[in-house]
Amino acid sequence: MIKEAKTSILVLAAGRGTRAKTTAYNNVPKQYAVVAGKPLLRITLETLIGFDLFDEILCVIHPDDLSLYEDATRGLTLPAPVFGGETRQQSSQNGLNAIKECDFVMIHDAARPFVQKETVTALLESLNSGEVKAVIPGLPVTDTLKKTSHDTKIIDTISRENLYAVQTPQAFSYPTLLDALSIGVGPDYTDDAMIMEAAGHAVHIIKGSENNFKVTSPEDFGKAERQLMTDLGDIRVGQGFDVHRFTKGDNVTLCGVKIPHSHSLKGHSDADVAMHALTDALFSAVADGDIGSHFPPSDPQWKGVASEIFLLKACTIIRDKGGMIAHMGITIITESPKIGPHRDDMRRAMSAITQVPIDRISVQATTTEKLGFTGRGEGIAAQASATVRLPLIGI
Ligand code: CTP
Ligand code: MG
Repeated sequence: MIKEAKTSILVLAAGRGTRAKTTAYNNVPKQYAVVAGKPLLRITLETLIGFDLFDEILCVIHPDDLSLYEDATRGLTLPAPVFGGETRQQSSQNGLNAIKECDFVMIHDAARPFVQKETVTALLESLNSGEVKAVIPGLPVTDTLKKTSHDTKIIDTISRENLYAVQTPQAFSYPTLLDALSIGVGPDYTDDAMIMEAAGHAVHIIKGSENNFKVTSPEDFGKAERQLMTDLGDIRVGQGFDVHRFTKGDNVTLCGVKIPHSHSLKGHSDADVAMHALTDALFSAVADGDIGSHFPPSDPQWKGVASEIFLLKACTIIRDKGGMIAHMGITIITESPKIGPHRDDMRRAMSAITQVPIDRISVQATTTEKLGFTGRGEGIAAQASATVRLPLIGI
């Protein structure tokens, strides 16, 4: 039994996700696909952080994905990621070379966002016994197994007795794994246990979970989405409204997009009336005050601060509650400038900040038929609504 063992976990996210790639999820590598409002990698990381069982959580990513990684992990406290390699095995070795000295190491697929605490605890208990140096979760195979020739003709039926489909995280005694690695690694190793098996170390299996599936093909996104959505049944609708008056200037910023205009909007920093209305809609959905209460205008530290900071704060509050933003609708009320030509840029800008997919963000515009202050061209008004889903737990 190791007292107060130090445990690190590698989260492998350097793959290209070729089999799962689909335009429906923006064609990004699967670990960055936004599912139920969050990139899969973020769901996996938040879950692991929430377990409070690891001394170090280190991501292995592809060098091309640095900005996707930064967006997906914004606000999480993590060490700088390591770059992976051509094969999963190379990625896991790069990660192992970079982790801090530890007693136990686990290696986990970023594409398995539903890892359960019971599984991790059982793996740790097993290693802590001192007798087990390698332990992995798995499920007995229940389907009948057929082998085919290169076409679809069956050439054999394989007994499923003692056969397991294995999952991650896979858990190892770190010094023993390093020792096994020094023997060398085969290019076709599809999991980390194979390194220990090849070096002659016993690898044990504990019970995995059906929920802990790996997102592999496009259909798995839907499965993951359904699994996440059932937990997010507390549905809230928030609203926000804001007005800024025109002043001298030559552009306005609306939903983060700078548009040339005969006037500018008066207000601190960019006076982004549309983003302010949207931010208030998000605060409203979680019944947590408004921009003014979070960023009092009387406090000099918020003078001139970019509107994006307010919006990010609202998103963080929702994320910290384990929630997701299901929809955001913004209506900009003005005679001019024309919003239509900028609509999609605005949606994209809001999506980049909030991580909400663009097809869940609507931007509309209307005039007031030359009536009232917007009709007279004295300023711009914006109203917004936000639909937020929170976990059912606790209500
Ligand atoms: N992985 C990695 N480095 C690689 C290949 C895979 O870090 N060179 C990671 C993936 O990001 C994934 C996990 O290993 O989290 C499991 O691999 P797999 O499901 O095969 O993912 P991909 O290789 O990304 O997908 P595909 O095989 O469809 O391209
Ligand atoms: Mg692969």
